[in-house]
Amino acid sequence: MSVDTFSFAEAVRSRHSVRAFLPDPLSPAQIRSVLEDARMAPSNCNTQPWQIHIVSGQQRDLLSKNLLRAEAAGEVSGDFTFDQNEYFGPYAMRSSHQAKTRNDALGIARSDREARRVADRRNFEFYGAPHVAMLFAPVFGDGVRVGGDIGMYAQTFLLSLAARGLGGIPQTVLGLYADTVRDVLNVPDDLKLFFGISFGNEDRPSSDNSYRLGKVPPQENVITHDTPGLFDSHPAPDPA
Ligand SMILES: Cc1cc2nc3c(=O)[nH]c(=O)nc-3n(C[C@H](O)[C@H](O)[C@H](O)COP(=O)(O)O)c2cc1C
Repeated sequence: MSVDTFSFAEAVRSRHSVRAFLPDPLSPAQIRSVLEDARMAPSNCNTQPWQIHIVSGQQRDLLSKNLLRAEAAGEVSGDFTFDQNEYFGPYAMRSSHQAKTRNDALGIARSDREARRVADRRNFEFYGAPHVAMLFAPVFGDGVRVGGDIGMYAQTFLLSLAARGLGGIPQTVLGLYADTVRDVLNVPDDLKLFFGISFGNEDRPSSDNSYRLGKVPPQENVITHDTPGLFDSHPAPDPA
């Protein structure tokens, strides 16, 4: 089977956040194919507000260096807020479970703040990926519609990678240093940075890629209205 022929069910189930990559760059044709898929994403009124910066090679290294420096200096400059303390109830539980699962896989004790910081700083090395896509857009109103559009684009991008046997990870943390990214990539201030996606070939044996996070079954977050029998007796359909 060619890597380009994963079924939808295979692609959507094999996709996961990759946190260790091989350094080898993808070919221009591989990156172009992903971009040709991603551009088909839906958007409010077909505005297609995304502006994507693909960063590789020496520019990737420079961006990583400047992000590491900005993080160390505490020069946070996100265009949008992000506060994990706002998670509550099941959301806080899932967030904690995700962090614990990763720390356990990496052998990091909860009390070991320094080891956790080192692991988190891998974000700014793009987890070793040879490429990062920075997702910018203008903001209309409170920005929530554009945020939805960017999410549509990003998931299409990620599923295209998965369908081709490649790996990626969306990274809000990169967006917290928007001024640093704009500065290196020469992006005007009126384009806001939503997040980045590091991508390339997965380093499959890495312990940071050794775990998969569970997903809530639809019975737990789908409420039916006059749609009888959806979850009553039928087994979940075979994804293949
Ligand atoms: C918009 C978005 C931003 C994310 N930001 C980060 C990030 O900054 N760093 C990181 O390591 N993972 C990040 N993730 C990955 C999530 O932790 C991951 O999607 C989640 O734990 C579920 O795991 P899965 O992607 O393997 O299904 C982000 C995911 C999304 C959708």
